[in-house]
Amino acid sequence: MNFYVMTLFPDMVINCLSESITGRAIKNGLINVEAVNIRDFATNKYKHVDDYIYGGGSGMLMQAEPVYLAYKHIMESMENTEKTPRVLYMTPQGKTFNQSMAQEFSQEENLIFLCGHYEGIDERVLEMIVTDEVSVGDYVLTGGEIPAITIIDAVSRLVPGVLGKDDSALYESFYDGLLEYPQYTRPEEFMGKKVPEVLLSGHHKNIEKWRYDMSLERTRIKRPDLYEKYLKEHGDGQGKIQRN
Ligand code: ADE
Repeated sequence: MNFYVMTLFPDMVINCLSESITGRAIKNGLINVEAVNIRDFATNKYKHVDDYIYGGGSGMLMQAEPVYLAYKHIMESMENTEKTPRVLYMTPQGKTFNQSMAQEFSQEENLIFLCGHYEGIDERVLEMIVTDEVSVGDYVLTGGEIPAITIIDAVSRLVPGVLGKDDSALYESFYDGLLEYPQYTRPEEFMGKKVPEVLLSGHHKNIEKWRYDMSLERTRIKRPDLYEKYLKEHGDGQGKIQRN
């Protein structure tokens, strides 16, 4: 899967995604991340990419031309453009990113991200190239890079092979629509606190039931919104863990 990120801070994107599981996935050729510096497409000798806002107001706006040229450059560099790739503009005005959007995006072969800075980007180029406006939450960040990194991380771990067998996605949060149950490792006792007895019993059925009950209870307490949704989709919660 190919991720193209249009940004003024390419190092931020590449350095971050080169670590840990996404870094391993890049090395193994399972995902490819290209950060395209919008400033490289400035046409003035000072390499300015922003200007004052028509009609007044504070701050500067990113200009349409360098963004458009960066987009054209990406499109021309793509080998397989049978399907026009989605262009995700990172903005707090967008649809709030969630796990089902991550699933949907993971079906794409190519995804293009547009990261704004300053007060935003000239509306005309947004109208021309953007297919989806995406937010990572109801707060305002200094730019779209951290949202793009967040989305690339969440989508990458759904790409087959990216998670090894040791970091299986099977039981993790949001997979069944429930939060994860508590987990413990050695030692059996830490500062007087013991690992729940059932986990030491070796009784797999009881362990599975305990984990399911804990997931259900945690979700009810911490995320009543998800709990209600789960009950609607799975009945009274008396069933087994739903595996994908
Ligand atoms: N840019 C600034 N804030 C953002 C947010 N919350 N989500 C996506 N892009 C942003």
